[in-house]
Amino acid sequence: LVAAAAALGVLLGPPAALRADVVTIVASKDATLYQDDFGQFANGAGEYMFTGVNGGGAIRRAVVAFDLASAIPPGSVVNSVTITMFLSRTRTGTFTASFHRVTADWGEGTSNAGGEEGGGAPSTPGDATWIHRSYNTVLWTTPGGDFVPTASASRSVGSTGSYIWSSTAALVADVQSFVDNPASNFGWILLCNETVNSTKRFDSRTSLTPSRRPTITVNFTPPPGTGACCFDTSPCRPRTQTDCETQGGVFQGVGTSCTPSPCPPATGACCFGNTTCSVLTQAGCASQGGTYQGDYTPCSPGLCPLVLTPFVDPLPRPAVMQPDTGTAGGAATYTATVTEFQQQLHRDLPPTTVWGINGGYPGPTIEAGCGQPVSVTWVNNLRDLTTGQLRTQHYLPVDLCLDGPDEYGAAARTVFHLHGGVVPHDFDGYPEYTQLPGQQVTYDYPNLQPPATLWYHDHSQGITRLNVYMGLAGFYLLRDPFEQSLGLPAGEYEVPLAIQDRMFNADGTLMYHDEWHDHFFGDTILVNGKVWPYLTVKRGKYRFRLLNGSTSRTYTLALSNSQFFQQIGTEQGLLSAPVQVSSVTLTPGERADIVMDFSVYSAGSQVTLVNSAPAPFPGQPDEGVIPNVMRFVVESATGHTAPLPASLRPVQAIPEALAVRTRDMVLRQLPDDICGGTAWFINGLRWHDVVDMPRLETVEIWRFINRSAVSHPMHPHLVKFLVLDRQVFDVGSNDEVVPVGPRFPPQAGEAGWKDTVDAPPNMITRVIMRFEGYTGHFPFHCHILEHEDNEMMRQFEAMPACTGDYNADLTLTSQDYFHFLADFFPRRPRSDVNRDGRIDSQDFFDFLASFFSGCP
Ligand code: C2O
Ligand code: CU
Ligand code: CU
Repeated sequence: LVAAAAALGVLLGPPAALRADVVTIVASKDATLYQDDFGQFANGAGEYMFTGVNGGGAIRRAVVAFDLASAIPPGSVVNSVTITMFLSRTRTGTFTASFHRVTADWGEGTSNAGGEEGGGAPSTPGDATWIHRSYNTVLWTTPGGDFVPTASASRSVGSTGSYIWSSTAALVADVQSFVDNPASNFGWILLCNETVNSTKRFDSRTSLTPSRRPTITVNFTPPPGTGACCFDTSPCRPRTQTDCETQGGVFQGVGTSCTPSPCPPATGACCFGNTTCSVLTQAGCASQGGTYQGDYTPCSPGLCPLVLTPFVDPLPRPAVMQPDTGTAGGAATYTATVTEFQQQLHRDLPPTTVWGINGGYPGPTIEAGCGQPVSVTWVNNLRDLTTGQLRTQHYLPVDLCLDGPDEYGAAARTVFHLHGGVVPHDFDGYPEYTQLPGQQVTYDYPNLQPPATLWYHDHSQGITRLNVYMGLAGFYLLRDPFEQSLGLPAGEYEVPLAIQDRMFNADGTLMYHDEWHDHFFGDTILVNGKVWPYLTVKRGKYRFRLLNGSTSRTYTLALSNSQFFQQIGTEQGLLSAPVQVSSVTLTPGERADIVMDFSVYSAGSQVTLVNSAPAPFPGQPDEGVIPNVMRFVVESATGHTAPLPASLRPVQAIPEALAVRTRDMVLRQLPDDICGGTAWFINGLRWHDVVDMPRLETVEIWRFINRSAVSHPMHPHLVKFLVLDRQVFDVGSNDEVVPVGPRFPPQAGEAGWKDTVDAPPNMITRVIMRFEGYTGHFPFHCHILEHEDNEMMRQFEAMPACTGDYNADLTLTSQDYFHFLADFFPRRPRSDVNRDGRIDSQDFFDFLASFFSGCP
């Protein structure tokens, strides 16, 4: 009988207590090791991880680990193992991707590259990087990770989708060793082809789509004496009765299995569009229209994103700033007071704390006339909304390593620059001349320049990106009678559109990086301070003054029905004639003057202004694009139907032969010996390196040579310029820049007076300009505000024209000396020209000599 029972036992399989069980668990940590950026970049908290070689030849390797000990009881026998990953973005090509067991522990910090994440981000403490197991203390023995040379599992990966690495003996052995000795579980490193461009991007454990997170599935036989144990907040797991009960579970009996689970159905966080969260079953969540976040995900603060409906708020038109004396549009004085207040930026958002001017974000528009001076008293009255006290600190986190905050800390400084204005140094919003809360300054704007779409914005050194993000920007429209005689759409038919991206917390507050990052890309687009607004338009022509007022995002704007529109101007005024375009691209700081004709639409039609520019720009098609901008809703009334004039204002080319000098400006990222990691540089120099001294009344050509993978919108203060051309270059064996192929002239829509220009990657962008106006120091910089706040802002010193004297009155008098002292002292209180510690007439002579050196 015993033998028979034994024989029967063989026939029926092993005793019930030894039945196999299956668990699927999500990665407990993952990261990417980036070989470039000096092996110092990471992406611990990012949504993605990378493997393979990027376009620049740098290797990426993903590391991933699973907390197997929490799911598989000690003493279990591992039968089979599979790993599943979701490939969400890829270069074309099929490559082998292999998991190798990692032999040393590594960390996952809070770095988060944002956007498509390809470049990684500066590391945070504890991050795994190419060289660190844990930034910035523990190194790998071998840069690029310590791992077993033989792969445990390999498979080919091609186009996007879910991939399963099937079980192998090596994978089973890895997991068995992790179960037997949890302290040796450092997971695996995922390598891809490392000889050709092979980048593959997989979703990480923080993917917003739970089903795309990396998982491991293990089939194992638990040791005798275990059974299914049910928990409220985690899946069914085999446990001994004692372990189950001490861990707060309900034991289902020795020999019971978790496959299928005898426990009540799993619950997890279920998100609703208004950020509310409830714990429901997956089916319950679906039936209530929510988005299920995965089994046993808790409802944690900030888990559920806010989903804002586009086109539900009317477009605000910024008010015209009201003068204290004089008239708006003519000579006038204004007070522009900066305060903190709350403003509703979307129907479904709670009011957002912003900064604005005279109570508005964006600030009211200053209307000005050519030749009619305007003076503005800029008052920093930033107060903490709750206490009413002057702010002692910025509203947003300030990175204290940057120029500016290194000296002033997190102070809520402001200083205003009239972008595109020809303004003396003292009134230009020099980044070091900031006002603290409670301080003010009066700036005189002479308006001695042709009409243009100017804008004002904060320019405080090292915190410009934060201040503009908070809302400190507005239009300054300079007009003249000639332009007004052209019969362009005006009044209600002329609308300035300030386009900016933002990111919100669920409570409506603005979200921004804590530390300096390469870029900031919001997930929401605002026009004139409203999220995705609509404008009701009459059937006729509208003139839109488009401004890209974003910190980093570029826009390629078009109509959703692909209709053409007319571009009539650039930053510094009208084109010589209207140009028909189907889209216009604006990098940060650029403006375009356009006319759209809605008379062709029937009443009730809707057409959307859409964006197709990748972020970062130019990037890869579709990468990081936020497609909606705003919507036009056509009503039945007829509006401005007069035809556009065939010609506008002649644009007189500057002959290249007039240039007395060509300056090369090399734009690239280099190691930063001050803040660590890398910084963006112009010619490798910093703010205080003033080596460019153009002379007024001379013409120069500047070549912006972009040796990086992103566009840099370059902007010199004081001068307007014309784009000559763009040309591709190669880098030669001695690191020299070798132009190749033809020079491309600007497109018709760029062939006007500009003050900000897109310098695309791997191209030389040439501009020609005549230095005019005022002597002194003026910034020139990239208008990606993150780059400007980094090292991509320098200054030139405009030297007096050779024909002039210091006062420009053609006689050198003691008055010149006083002006020199007055100009010199406030800025450099402890210095003189001779650096002999005394200011005397010799200093004045030396000063003049250096000023006029090189003059005939
Ligand atoms: Cu809008 Cu110095 O710039
Ligand atoms: Cu400017
Ligand atoms: Cu830049």
